[in-house]
Amino acid sequence: MTVKTMHTAEVKDLLEKVAGFNTEGGNERMKTIVHRVMHDVFQLIEDLDITPDEFWQAVYYINELGQNGEAALLAPGLGMDKYLDIRLDAEDEQAGLNGGTPRTIEGPLYVAGAPKSEAFARMDDGTDEAAETMILTGQVTDDQGQPLANAVVDIWHADTKGAYSYFDQSQSEYNLRRRIVTDENGRYTARSIIPSGYGCPPEGSTQQLLNLLGRHGNRPAHIHFFISKPGFKHLTTQINLAGDEYTYDDFAFATRDELVIDAVRVEDPTQAETYGLNGAFTRVEFNIELVSTDKPELQTRHERQRALEGEAA
Ligand code: DHB
Ligand code: FE
Repeated sequence: MTVKTMHTAEVKDLLEKVAGFNTEGGNERMKTIVHRVMHDVFQLIEDLDITPDEFWQAVYYINELGQNGEAALLAPGLGMDKYLDIRLDAEDEQAGLNGGTPRTIEGPLYVAGAPKSEAFARMDDGTDEAAETMILTGQVTDDQGQPLANAVVDIWHADTKGAYSYFDQSQSEYNLRRRIVTDENGRYTARSIIPSGYGCPPEGSTQQLLNLLGRHGNRPAHIHFFISKPGFKHLTTQINLAGDEYTYDDFAFATRDELVIDAVRVEDPTQAETYGLNGAFTRVEFNIELVSTDKPELQTRHERQRALEGEAA
């Protein structure tokens, strides 16, 4: 049965009342957004002839998604974080602020207030003795290649099971999360462990929907970064390690060619010694180029709810 009711005065009137157009109070921006969202939902129901059964399944799906705390996990899987990045890239281009190391999505698993140190940090707590030691190092420069001292490089990544500390309560506090301030040559170095790729909780709401789309919920092995320094555009980015099954098939759409990095196995003992190591390790080099700006609003990360943000750090 295909009925068309969207054009009727009754539906138009209903939508206006839903969005509070006929009341004085409330917030104008919210009224405009809700009117548009509900219009488009109604239109979708009409166009795709959504049945009441399908509609109520969706409502209870959203309930469950929230109960599982997975809304911010589903968003990247549906390309929303990537779409926001596409818009930010286009805005940068329009403002002549493009260039530098490309941004990519933050993801939902950042925790504010990680320990901060100068030039070097050890990120892992040493409990995973089977893990491959990683030396993650690089230089932060401006877009002329000049080294930037005192930039804050905030790094977080998963363990060898693909799990993140804080969200995985079995890990120690701030395991695999550190802030490193670059030295006078703009350099930072972290000793850590090579992470594994991340997979959505297999029984969770996100994976349930991905299954219905015939999609997997996996990310390649990756390392997250916030890089900031006064006078420069804040950068939110990640690197994906080359050679992972999912390097170019990331369910969260965060891969960018410039951000795929080779992890290089180093067997040479003299190199190991430089880092105080006594065996082979894997070296990951990520150099970062920041773009200068005098706009304060571009120098900080976007506001969103983050674990422990706003608490004493
Ligand atoms: C998700 C997980 C991540 O580790 C990440 O970086 C991005 C997204 C997720 O579960 O949606
Ligand atoms: Fe991640």
